Amino acid sequence: MKEIEAEALTEITNAKEELALEKIRVKYLGRKEGIVTEALRSLKNLSLEEKKRQGPQINALKAKLEKTLEIKKRDLEEGKNKKTLDIDITRPGEKIIKERKITTGHLHPLTVLENEIKDVFRSMNFSVLEGPEIESEFYNFDALNVPPDHPAREMWDTFWIKSENAKTSKEKLLLRTHTSPMQIRYMESHEPPLQIVVPGRVFRFEATDQTHEVNFYQYEGLMVGKNISLANFKYVIETFLKRIFGKDIEFRYRPSYFPFVEPGLEIAIKFRGKWLEMMGAGMVHPNVFKAVHYNPRDYRGFAFGGGLERLAMVKYNIPDIRLFYSGDTRFTNQF
Ligand code: PHE
Repeated sequence: MKEIEAEALTEITNAKEELALEKIRVKYLGRKEGIVTEALRSLKNLSLEEKKRQGPQINALKAKLEKTLEIKKRDLEEGKNKKTLDIDITRPGEKIIKERKITTGHLHPLTVLENEIKDVFRSMNFSVLEGPEIESEFYNFDALNVPPDHPAREMWDTFWIKSENAKTSKEKLLLRTHTSPMQIRYMESHEPPLQIVVPGRVFRFEATDQTHEVNFYQYEGLMVGKNISLANFKYVIETFLKRIFGKDIEFRYRPSYFPFVEPGLEIAIKFRGKWLEMMGAGMVHPNVFKAVHYNPRDYRGFAFGGGLERLAMVKYNIPDIRLFYSGDTRFTNQF
């Protein structure tokens, strides 16, 4: 019986089509000459004891073969159906398609614009660098010709960092209120000619509203050499702004005051019919050159600084600066 069973199961497993499977069924379970059927029939010639021993074994084999044949038959039928289906095995499951839209991330609009600014200035041979967000009073104010207790300090509402043991203004720490301290840091360690642009985060201790945030971004520019003039500045800044806003804009220069430049300027552009303030700028003040041990008689330079959000708000018509930091993807997904 064991031999018959092994043989039958191998034949069933190897059967490739329904017709072959039917032949196997007849061979073992056929009513007339099936091997198992015959074995059951011949039980009647055996002693009662043998009947009791072999009967259940043969019946069990019969049931097992019937079951195996049935399963194999179903497999063969299914296989036949499958061949006629065109299945794309790379297609995600229905559940995934229905419930989970797969979306990829993207850069924040301010990052996109900052990258654009870097590209424009690199194309004019400027170096791009960054500076520390925690600064000292010296770099943020003193070296930039903003002495202690001078009313001009009021222009920048400052977050001070507790530094009780600090004695000198180099030890007194704050969150930088502008990117201008990088003018000093760079000139301290480099000789002219130089041209740099410094994007970075700055902080102001102010109430927030549509156009003010406690933290925002600036880009600082500085160019120093022997014969640098406002004409050079005009060319650089107009090239930059045209690359960002398009060729059709107009420019307006008005006098303004910042302690670290003389003369100081305010630059506005006419964009979509409106005049819009874009940045502060001017010729580097002699006292700034003195602070970095340049001889003011040897060098001239210009500096400018503008808000990154301001640029983005004008360019994309964004009404509220707080949207940039809201984390609301309905906003960021538009860029
Ligand atoms: N640092 C100035 C500000 O934050 C902007 C500025 C930079 C003005 C460089 C002139 C020259 O307001």
